[in-house]
Amino acid sequence: MEATARAHPNIAFIKYWGNRDDHLRIPANSSISMNLDGLSTETTVEWADDIAADYLILNGTAQTGPALERVQRHLDMLRRRLNLSAYARVESTNNFPMGAGIASSASSFAALTVAGVAASGRGDIDERELTRLARLGSGSASRSVPGGFVEWHSGDSHETSYAESMAPENHWALVDVIAVISTAHKAVGSTEGHKSASTSVLQTARVADAALRFEQCKRAILDRDFVTFAEVVERDSNLMHAIMMTSRPPLFYWLPGSLEVMESVRSWRSEGLDVCYTMDAGPNVHCICTQERAAEIETRLRQMTYVVDVRTAGVGGAASVVRVSKR
Ligand code: PMV
Repeated sequence: MEATARAHPNIAFIKYWGNRDDHLRIPANSSISMNLDGLSTETTVEWADDIAADYLILNGTAQTGPALERVQRHLDMLRRRLNLSAYARVESTNNFPMGAGIASSASSFAALTVAGVAASGRGDIDERELTRLARLGSGSASRSVPGGFVEWHSGDSHETSYAESMAPENHWALVDVIAVISTAHKAVGSTEGHKSASTSVLQTARVADAALRFEQCKRAILDRDFVTFAEVVERDSNLMHAIMMTSRPPLFYWLPGSLEVMESVRSWRSEGLDVCYTMDAGPNVHCICTQERAAEIETRLRQMTYVVDVRTAGVGGAASVVRVSKR
């Protein structure tokens, strides 16, 4: 059987940084995100008896090396859990360019998991289990499986670490206006970054306070309270970057342009615009605003010298199976 699935990337409001178990990707703290509509990864998986190895085509190009190996490790895990022995043909495309400031690992591993399970014909695997399986490929991929605004419960085991939707995509019309500062490939990826988080003496303090920020952020989303939301989202992003900068070796993802955008966002908010910023493991700044303000924020960002491009995305739905067919 062959199946195609589609998943959106997500932007975290309460960040995941550091694991209590690197192998199982059990995070140090629970996190919250929204899926990004319009941006997606579409992946087709065929479990095939006529091939002697897994095969990956990414955006039209056959892959070898680290990209293929990471997918193979995920397929090995799926084979064990689905009781399969066949190798897989995997073809995946992103409708957004790599290196445009939008992490593709979340949508990629969510789509790969959902397609791989659908192609196995196993109907007994529910959404919660799909989030656990996606988590094993990339932690944030667990949050790209359910729709809308999503919470990932850290848990303390494979069973208890899963994601679920806290509100559907039509709950609050937020928009992520992404200020692209650089399209260069990042030097240190998040898998390595998570491993170094505990080398910062600040990580213990960040994690100790994370449950409180999680509750504040969740309440603000459920109440559509932008003022509280903005304060906690920026604080959480700053805390994660404080860990990165004080890890050994240190990780500096901010560029001068990132800082300029963050300062502008704070001053626009003091003018009365509903906008706040959050940054992932890269220099680009995600400006989160209400839909009414999105065009204004985009215009202002485009006028800034360091901003090389701007992309916008509203709240996206769940990962879904687009097609299943028998070969
Ligand atoms: O899922 P990973 O290993 O790519 O980690 C994601 C880490 C951040 O994007 C920086 C934060 C987050 O919660 O998405």
